[in-house]
Amino acid sequence: MKKSILDFRAMVERGEKIVWLTGYDYLTAKYEERAGVDMILVGDSLGNVLLGYDTTYPVTMEEMLIHCKAVRRGAPDTFVIGDMPYMSYQISDEQAVANAGRFTKEALCDAIKLEGGGEEICKRIRAIASVGILTFGHIGLTPQFAAQMGGYKAQGRSADAARRLLDEALRIQDAGACAILVEGVPDIVGELIAKKLSIPTLGIGAGSKTDGQLLIFADMLGYYDNFTPKFVKKYAELGKEMERAFREYCDDVRAGRFPVD
Ligand code: KIV
Repeated sequence: MKKSILDFRAMVERGEKIVWLTGYDYLTAKYEERAGVDMILVGDSLGNVLLGYDTTYPVTMEEMLIHCKAVRRGAPDTFVIGDMPYMSYQISDEQAVANAGRFTKEALCDAIKLEGGGEEICKRIRAIASVGILTFGHIGLTPQFAAQMGGYKAQGRSADAARRLLDEALRIQDAGACAILVEGVPDIVGELIAKKLSIPTLGIGAGSKTDGQLLIFADMLGYYDNFTPKFVKKYAELGKEMERAFREYCDDVRAGRFPVD
């Protein structure tokens, strides 16, 4: 049965970890649901992993919706979060609510996620949450702010920076977010934020003490090999296995071993 936000809150109270993976397509989502993941994020990281962009900046609403719909079909009984792409919520509250609504109305996502913890972003969170859409915040290493951060760099590494992150997290919670993702921060900062917040606090590259864990499925499968963050544990070498199989097929066809009469 599909878990709801109430189930996730109850899991946190019981000290049970929430398991979260990204997924971008029908088949991956199907296997993730069969394996029992609690949530699937249709992340704008699909821009890097599936579409071959260097950053997430070019990803559009239309691209996100196509992938969210495919994931919904593959995992009808899993909580799916649609990631709001760059410039789909930054301009105004109206734009943010309209685009968040497309994720829930057209793609049947259960929630949306957006990046940042500044005052303007918190206004967007408040506006989206006020129309009844479950909203996940995302702070720390936020790829849509990579230009301002000077690249994909760990965040919250000084006492001041950690305090600023905690302030952002509290502001996001006050604005009405139902959960928050903390990315690329020292373990102790992930732990501190999880302790201080009453909403579920998920982490990616934020240590082991958050309420749950997210990984990009293509990193943990060894499928995306352009770059693998240090904190990733690889559970497979899918890319290498695909290349081996493709090579064997090439050899077989060229040598006349396939097809056979
Ligand atoms: O787009 C995404 O997959 C994300 C993760 C990098 C956290 O937001």
